[in-house]
Amino acid sequence: MKLIDGKQTAADIRAGLKARAAAFSCKYGLPVGLAVVLIGDDPASAVYVRNKIKACEEVGIRSFAHILPADATQETAENEVRRLAEDASVHGILVQLPLPAHLAASRILARIPAAKDVDGFSVENVGLLAKGERGTVACTPLGVMELLRRYRIPTAGKRAVVIGRSNTVGKPMAMLLIGADATVTVCHSKTQDLAAVCRQADILVAAVGRPKTVTADMVKEGAVVIDVGINRDGGKLCGDVDFEGVKDKVSYITPVPGGVGPMTVAMLLQNTLDAAERQV
Ligand code: GUN
Repeated sequence: MKLIDGKQTAADIRAGLKARAAAFSCKYGLPVGLAVVLIGDDPASAVYVRNKIKACEEVGIRSFAHILPADATQETAENEVRRLAEDASVHGILVQLPLPAHLAASRILARIPAAKDVDGFSVENVGLLAKGERGTVACTPLGVMELLRRYRIPTAGKRAVVIGRSNTVGKPMAMLLIGADATVTVCHSKTQDLAAVCRQADILVAAVGRPKTVTADMVKEGAVVIDVGINRDGGKLCGDVDFEGVKDKVSYITPVPGGVGPMTVAMLLQNTLDAAERQV
């Protein structure tokens, strides 16, 4: 078993981005800017936003945190995003999800112009990905593809199984794997005999949000297992995969923490730099 070190890979990527961010500031006389909008007090979201802002500082991207209360109105939220859309010092806008239930997320996200959509959630960017014409791609699945590429894990002709069909991970992950010539199956909560489908996988991506969903009996000998889950099991961070149970069966596996998570943040910074360079 080889461990896929997302923490180190993300640090390597951030080092490269730091040089690019400095070159941008020098050339255009203003720093790359990322606005992060957090609405409400979901504790996990607060941690993710803090990590994103810290990562911006490290690479020399200016971050603007916009924190709205849990009872913010639809109009307030939309106006906040509209202001950021018009602000020339903001090159990327990220609205941390999930939003409080009373808000219509899609109408808020629709206020983010595609050029500043560093999450790749806009209709335009999702459409481009679906057509195989890459615009901005969602950070987590992009981070997974970057890990596969850097670890020279082949995808062409391989059977890939994605567990989870979310707009943030499962669906864009499947699109990217199709684009990389894998044969892709997407599983979800209604999938019959999940274990049998997963056992077919050369590359198994778990994006479920439930600890220990993927157990040893679901993993083919020599498979590559990518764990996208970030769960709390009595305060301890764990993924969707029963790591101890499957680790001796696999060729490669991502740990949690230190696997996909840091890559998501690195890809956000990369998307922000790309967006800034396209806007000048
Ligand atoms: N919530 C969970 N993952 C993400 C993400 O990648 N972007 C945003 N904006 N919110 C999230």
